[in-house]
Amino acid sequence: MSQVFQPGLYAGKTVFVTGGSSGINQRIAEAFGELGAKVAINGRKVEKLEAAVKALRSKGITAEGYAADVRDYVALEGALEAAVKALGPIDVLVCGAAGNFPAPVAMMSSNGFKAVMDIDVLGTFNACRAAFERLTKPGAVILAISAPQAQVAYPMQAHVCAAKAGVDMLVKTLAMEWGPVGVRVMSIWPGPIDDTEGMQRLAGDPEVKKKVEQALPLQRFGTKDEVAQLALFLASPAARYITGSIHAVDGGMSLIGGQLLSM
Ligand code: COA
Repeated sequence: MSQVFQPGLYAGKTVFVTGGSSGINQRIAEAFGELGAKVAINGRKVEKLEAAVKALRSKGITAEGYAADVRDYVALEGALEAAVKALGPIDVLVCGAAGNFPAPVAMMSSNGFKAVMDIDVLGTFNACRAAFERLTKPGAVILAISAPQAQVAYPMQAHVCAAKAGVDMLVKTLAMEWGPVGVRVMSIWPGPIDDTEGMQRLAGDPEVKKKVEQALPLQRFGTKDEVAQLALFLASPAARYITGSIHAVDGGMSLIGGQLLSM
């Protein structure tokens, strides 16, 4: 539970989170819910989605789940439409669905590269495009979950580096196009975050984790809640003059070189 933000800060607001049935995105959805928001989460796997909705409801949060692959525009638009019918126009859209696996380019298939580009870049575009007519205007906020890979090149992450750079440029362009109608758009860069599928894949070995921690300026992995706190701030009135910007919550990971994840 957030101890920093005013209770009820998001009361009456609708928050839609893609990839919201697990990891960082699930915690972001929950954190908005704890501050009063009605929460719609989207995911590909129905069982996982239903379990996540149940967990949110068990905490007294108004929550609905909508299954759709973010790569499928029609399905995602249907999910957004259903969410708006049930919970009202979208105040905060979190584009969290992402793909990742560590692989050097020489071992990566064209389809593997495409899968990550499609989930991250096309998926973020699809969510923003389909949400646009369904956003509260003025006042809505879009948060894309990007990564330090957008700016720092990491071996075994070519697909993610390319995809996240694309996501960040999409964010900046949307901020320019949609700022005049009162929609703010920003990127969040989670660094190495404990207890996530992404970090399990990239630094699952305890020895690798220890080396990564020692290399980080803040000397530890972050928590899902620390990412959620940034999302709560960026979507709040306190951030009303912020748009088109990239916000790292990464313990300083983006300040050090790209060998970090290949230790
Ligand atoms: N190494 C190399 N290639 C891999 C791979 C791996 N670990 N995992 C998947 N791929 C390749 C597949 O081989 C396939 O290519 P091919 O057809 O040439 O064989 C391609 O990626 C698509 O895989 P597919 O099984 O059809 O799954 P998908 O399209 O649903 O997406 C992932 C695959 C891995 C991108 C996706 O399931 C994923 O990212 N899951 C993890 C989620 C996660 O960790 N999120 C946190 C992000 S930080």
